[in-house]
Amino acid sequence: MTSSLAALEQRARELLDPVHYDYFAGGAGDEITLADNEQAFRRLALLPRVLRDTSGRSLATNLLGDPSSMPVFVSPTAFHKLAHADGERATARGVAAAGLILIASMAGTVAISEVTAAAREIDREARVWFQLYLQPEPEVTTELVRRAERAGCTALVVTVDSPVHGRRAREDRHGFHDLPASMCAENMRGLPGTTGDAVRPIAMSPDFTWEHLSRLRETSQLPLVLKGILHPEDARLAVEYGAAAIVVSNHGGRQLDRTPASLDALPGITAAVAGRIPVYLDGGVRCGSDVVLAVALGAAAVGVGRPVLWGLAVGGDKGVTGVLDTLRSEFEHTLTLCGIAELSELNAGLVATRGAAR
Ligand code: FNR
Repeated sequence: MTSSLAALEQRARELLDPVHYDYFAGGAGDEITLADNEQAFRRLALLPRVLRDTSGRSLATNLLGDPSSMPVFVSPTAFHKLAHADGERATARGVAAAGLILIASMAGTVAISEVTAAAREIDREARVWFQLYLQPEPEVTTELVRRAERAGCTALVVTVDSPVHGRRAREDRHGFHDLPASMCAENMRGLPGTTGDAVRPIAMSPDFTWEHLSRLRETSQLPLVLKGILHPEDARLAVEYGAAAIVVSNHGGRQLDRTPASLDALPGITAAVAGRIPVYLDGGVRCGSDVVLAVALGAAAVGVGRPVLWGLAVGGDKGVTGVLDTLRSEFEHTLTLCGIAELSELNAGLVATRGAAR
């Protein structure tokens, strides 16, 4: 990690229960992918242009038509009450204040209706997308989708890289498998098949196929984003099955260890998609130049996961906004130094390999 956000992680680490810090920070297996996500950015260099009048450049963009103050979004992460008492409410406020889209995790410790309400307290136009794990019982999935729709979410992000839980040594070492009794995955309360307001566990299932996605598309008008694509062939299938966008992601190195870094997988995916739908990326984005590199290599926007959790732990909603504002200021500064006058000028010509001439 680079300077400012690295210092923030250190502060969060001092504040958090070590068990919860390790839950947030850890990855699957030997954490090879976890480390590689960040290292992949460091293997690249920026090749700047000069004398190009970059004054007056705007960073604003849109994701599937939803406005965003820069090509960055907040990736879905679970259990925010482990980081801050206000949980996802604080995250939603902090992200809305930064003018970005929050992808709210289905595994939130605040119900999705309250997450969107908190975002709208700050900005009536704030956009929240809902991340979904398909559940084995179709009626449960449908009810989760209806809740997201009623809450005013504007896209569904289906995470497809989790047919089983990843195996994370840090969690095993601490025996961390359940939330403290004072919190739960609120979206899972009172779903079909349970009595009263009992909370269902979130199921991961290896049964799902592309046909289940077709059925989901018939269930809802919301655009469907597939998160967790790494293979170019799956990117092609995603287009074929009507995905509105995909997120190149290895789940922050928390599911299958030894996948490529997200950034390394990106060029193969953008080639396969060939501009038919937007390609987003998350994993290892820690500073403004990481955003520049990913966008230059074809990502329409990039997601941040853990840095937002560190901001939340240290400063609640203000801490979240602080992380995103830092990222924006670094992004802007780097673009100026790179001689980029419009975001549309970001392309692979700006990227070199470290240690190699071009
Ligand atoms: C995640 N991620 C995740 N993804 C998802 O689709 N649903 C989820 O509930 C979660 N939960 C979750 C918890 C924690 C603690 C982390 C760190 C991550 C993955 C997340 O969306 C994203 O892919 C990565 O976090 C991106 O990598 P960085 O930015 O953390 O390196």
